[in-house]
Amino acid sequence: MVCDLWKWRKREGLKIDFANQVVVITGAGGGLGRSYALLLAKLGAAVVVNDLGGSVHGEDADSSAADAVVEEIREAGGNAIADYSTVASPEGGAAIVEAGIEEFGQVDVLINNAGILRDKSFLKLEPDNIQAVLGVHLYGAFYVTRSAFAHMKEKRYGRVVLTSSASGLFGNFGQSNYAAAKMGLVGLMNVLKLEGAKHDILINTVAPIAGTRMTEDYLGEAAQKFDAASVAPAVAYLASSSCGHTGEIWSVGGGSVRRVFVGLSGGYFKHPGEEGPLTVEDVVANLDVIRREDDYSVPFSLQDELTGLIPRLLSE
Ligand code: NAI
Repeated sequence: MVCDLWKWRKREGLKIDFANQVVVITGAGGGLGRSYALLLAKLGAAVVVNDLGGSVHGEDADSSAADAVVEEIREAGGNAIADYSTVASPEGGAAIVEAGIEEFGQVDVLINNAGILRDKSFLKLEPDNIQAVLGVHLYGAFYVTRSAFAHMKEKRYGRVVLTSSASGLFGNFGQSNYAAAKMGLVGLMNVLKLEGAKHDILINTVAPIAGTRMTEDYLGEAAQKFDAASVAPAVAYLASSSCGHTGEIWSVGGGSVRRVFVGLSGGYFKHPGEEGPLTVEDVVANLDVIRREDDYSVPFSLQDELTGLIPRLLSE
């Protein structure tokens, strides 16, 4: 769903900028969030740099991470404040958005970026590892976005970016808790894109690839080729008023920007009225066509999928 306004703006060569806009970025005290904060501040945004601090496993807390990024922005002539609340509680989520409203009068953009890891193969995963990871990534996005959404709905404008991961989208050994949280965010986006559209609240998802403390074990030597700063331009676009689409997932890293989507194969259809009910034999005989990856559509919603199927079912 690419809107015509964007095509027009592209033709006119309008610059993306965030003058008079307030951007809240969670987990912005380091890694990717810091890169987003620096770029958006440079593009004119007043930034709420949220970060609880602490370890990559979500232990401890430390205000110095957020403070350092705020300092960096101010030294470069930008405008920013720090917030040290956790995203992983309803009170924390509300406080983060409130900090932006109190200091700058509004919040236009929310980038949900905070995250932790507690990697373990499935049978070694303890309940605590599940709760902590879902708590920050998935519940955290619910809590902060809920507060921002209410405010954005009132002022009839908002841009929200969620952070997923190839781990959830495609799979990664030892990350069932993290992958489930990251795919949960895609479900959250798919509903909020529908609930937000009429209020001009657009919501998209980035699946970044960057060398940060979180990925040093995965990327190894390649980490330095995946600069966090090279993810920021795509996120800046998704967060901007020039972004006219909603509900998309973009994989971004090392200079690449690619769209990820959930496709529905053309598949097999047997009209139950004319040809009788589907049988196991039908399924087995049509495995190739059911599983095809080169003939698909990308439904925008549940309704969209049904709109394609119901007329075929009701036809005589
Ligand atoms: P990072 O560890 O450098 O950044 C995460 C930040 O979130 C940290 O500064 C941390 O203090 C903060 N944080 C953790 N728990 C918090 C809480 N409860 N409340 C507020 N802040 C909290 O890691 P990185 O790589 O920059 O990750 C940023 C996001 O991107 C995460 O959501 C991560 O899952 C996601 N991601 C990163 C990838 C990569 O290649 N680096 C790949 C796919 C996803």
